[in-house]
Amino acid sequence: MTDERKRILTGIRPTGSLHLGHYAGALENWIRLQHDYDCNFLIADYQVSDYADDISRVRDSVWEVALDWLAVGLNPETSNFVIESLVPEHAELTLHLSWFLPLGMLSRNPTLKAEMDALEGGDEKTAGKSVPVAFYNYPVMQVANILMPRAHLVPVGEDQLPHIELTRETARRFNQRFKDVFPEPEGLVGRVARLVGTDGNAKMSKSRGNAINLKDDAETVRKAVMGMYGGPPTRRANEPGVVDENPILLYHDAFNADRTEVEDLKQRYASVGVGNKELKETLIVALNAFLDPIRERRAHYESHMPLVREALEHGSKNARAQAVETMALVRDALDFDYLGKHQS
Ligand code: TRP
Repeated sequence: MTDERKRILTGIRPTGSLHLGHYAGALENWIRLQHDYDCNFLIADYQVSDYADDISRVRDSVWEVALDWLAVGLNPETSNFVIESLVPEHAELTLHLSWFLPLGMLSRNPTLKAEMDALEGGDEKTAGKSVPVAFYNYPVMQVANILMPRAHLVPVGEDQLPHIELTRETARRFNQRFKDVFPEPEGLVGRVARLVGTDGNAKMSKSRGNAINLKDDAETVRKAVMGMYGGPPTRRANEPGVVDENPILLYHDAFNADRTEVEDLKQRYASVGVGNKELKETLIVALNAFLDPIRERRAHYESHMPLVREALEHGSKNARAQAVETMALVRDALDFDYLGKHQS
């Protein structure tokens, strides 16, 4: 950690396959920035709740996420793929940092609030459950994740920005009160901050069933696109429409590499109208062209799983070495070195 390059820490919870929303909102930045920064890409398995119920799903998802990362072109030889729980220092730093964050500040965190509300709302999945202490630990742990490699930049989806604000606040408090250990990291949101779902819902998400996954095959993509919401259903093909109200066009904008085609479709759509059938057929071609190289790389790694394992093992080991350095600085700043200070 002595070289001059700035560091990135970012991550994702292992809850399944990654989709187009992840790509345009975050991954694209990671791919671009991996050449200029020392990167830790974290699979945040400590952040997945309900171990007892879900651990096999978490375990599968760790591999899914790693495969998706390799498939989109993240390079594990120059960046670290890190499994959070293989760096147990995260837990130790979380404990120390929990002294710096007032409970009130955490309860205002939108992600935490949403989870609390879900519990209180009490659907059949959450019936009889109470709020676990882990709900409060988890934003603190996210702060610990970012501070651990003393990161400068955190490229994320826009929903994660409040966590970064919390991280900056924590770093400031720590540095002021003890020693200047942590940079104040910046957040960075992707080109498409929030990709609309295939159903026209405000956000693509797996749980809403409105996602197109990066690993979906051509037929799955075709079906998903054919079933897409295409703006107000009363609009006829020869009637002009509003580009921003049609998710099919928004996807063209986000993923179609043929910019001339995109401009032509948008221009005609707004002036004389274009049928959704044409928009969908061209989108299927464009999305498959975008996804094909991703699918190819994925297939390669799926048939070479030891490479995936090697990436996770190697990256986690590097991250742990950094973590040991940071924790030495933290313990020194907090003056925790009891034995070292006892000169007998
Ligand atoms: N909370 C993030 C998510 O739900 C994952 C995450 C964990 C993360 N630790 C992080 C993101 C640190 C950025 C930085 O996807």
